[in-house]
Order: sequence, then C-alpha cells, then structure tokens
Amino acid sequence: MSLEGRVAIVTGAAQGIGRAIAEALAHAGADIAVADLDPQRSADTVAMVEKIGRKALNVKVNVADANDTKTMVEHVIKSLGKIDILVNNAGITRDALLLRMKEEDWNLVLQVNLNGTFNCTKAVLQPMTKQRYGRIVNIASIVGAMGNVGQANYAASKAAVIGFTKTVAREYATRNVTVNAVAPGFIDTAMTQGLPAEVKETLQKQIPLGRLGTPADVAAAVRFLVSDDAAYVTGQVLHVNGGMLMP
Ligand code: NAI
Repeated sequence: MSLEGRVAIVTGAAQGIGRAIAEALAHAGADIAVADLDPQRSADTVAMVEKIGRKALNVKVNVADANDTKTMVEHVIKSLGKIDILVNNAGITRDALLLRMKEEDWNLVLQVNLNGTFNCTKAVLQPMTKQRYGRIVNIASIVGAMGNVGQANYAASKAAVIGFTKTVAREYATRNVTVNAVAPGFIDTAMTQGLPAEVKETLQKQIPLGRLGTPADVAAAVRFLVSDDAAYVTGQVLHVNGGMLMP
C-alpha cells in the first residue's frame, strides 16, 4: 500500500484520529499537510511526520471558512507541489437533547462537519480533476447511520456527509477521483474521553469486539481507501466500529 510520492491534506490532524491518519499515511510514504485550527498542537504532528522521514506542512485553517480552505490549497500546492489525497477529518460535537439544543450549536456543528467537508472538497477538486487523480476520504460516524441521543446536530451532519460522499463519487469518477467515507464507531480520543465511566461501560457491552476503537484502527481503513489497492472502490462507507452496527 505504498503512497510514495503522494501529497495528502489531513484536516483536524493536530490530535486524535487525524494525527493517527497523518502518521499512517506518512509511514506509507506520503508527505502531509497538517491542517488544523490549532497550529501549536499541529506542531507535534508535524514533528512526528518529519521523524518518519516525510515532508510536513503546518497549515492553520478553519474548514468552516471557504476562503480559508482556498488559501490552504494554494499554500499546499506551492509548498508540496500538488494534492493527491484529502482526508476530511476535522469535526466537532455540541451535544444536547433537541429541546435544549441551541440554534448556534446546531449551526456550528453543521458548519464545521458538513460545510467544512464541502469547502475542502470543492477547493481540491480542480487540481485533482486536472491531474486525473484524487483520493478523498470523509470521516463520517456510526451516529450518522444509527442516530444517538443528544446528538441530533452531529448525526444530521454525519448522515449528510455520507450523502455528499456518494454524490461527489458519482460526479468525479470519470476523472479518476474516488470519494469514500469511513464511519468510525466509538473511538478512544479527546472527543469520547469526557464520557462518564458508566456510559463507556454500557457502550462497551454493545460492541461485539468488546472494546472502544483506537485512532490507529480508523487510520488503517483510511490508508487502504487512499491506496492503489482501493482503485476500484468509490462511493462507499467503510464502518470501523468493532461490529457495533452492521448496516
Ligand atoms: P478531536 O476533537 O480529538 O480532534 C478534532 C481536531 O479537529 C482537533 O485537532 C481540532 O482542533 C480540529 N478542528 C476542529 N474544528 C476545526 C475547524 N473548524 N477547522 C479545522 N480544524 C478543526 O476529535 P477526534 O475524536 O479525533 O475526531 C476526528 C473525526 O472523527 C471527527 O470528524 C469526528 O466527528 C469523527 N469521529 C470520531 C469518533 C470518536 O469516537 N472519537 C467517532 C466517529 C467519528
């Protein structure tokens, strides 16, 4: 699964799943643009990629801002030469039961998780279609397929990302741009570390493989989808959830 000579943008790569994806793609040979809101934390990911022996670029970006994502793409092409791979991983939660959910929290989650995916994808499509090569992976969620109490905004955003993935896959297949989604189950990161112990225990009982996932579990699926081994895979949702949901 060599990615030798490829250039990848990974959004939200300062920590968690995004950082693990940056690590996996770098190990496979890709140079990485570490694109995140937080350049201080991104610096650790950049150092890790460089230690693996690949080039890394620290790009501060707010994916919810279309202009920011255009500037990011220009910067990456100028510094790393091209863009072969985009992983739309940046995402947030603002949980509340629907009656208590503030409109601003509904909007914010949609702006980052859905509009962010739209903005970054639109910004890379021109260079990708021009070079007749592109691999896009969108990080969705099990919650987008099954719903989850307290996450109407998040579930809506991730379900929408799946519809978006299938549509863009159909639109750009003739240009050799594949677009797939990875839908993680419950993964042990900052996003889930706040869950109360009893909630984690209940969750664990619903997972046939008996444990939360690791960021590396998700990264391995992404590495497959952006590799030449997945050249004939597009418009798919790869569920990485320990068997919790078998859609
Ligand atoms: P995390 O909270 O640990 O990391 C998210 C990263 O995204 C952070 O570095 C943050 O600075 C960055 N980010 C947030 N808003 C941004 C913006 N507007 N522009 C640029 N960067 C931004 O999250 P985690 O757990 O690593 O999640 C990564 C992705 O995986 C998210 O899309 C999340 O929804 C998804 N996911 C996570 C699951 C989990 O159990 N942790 C399960 C299913 C999906």
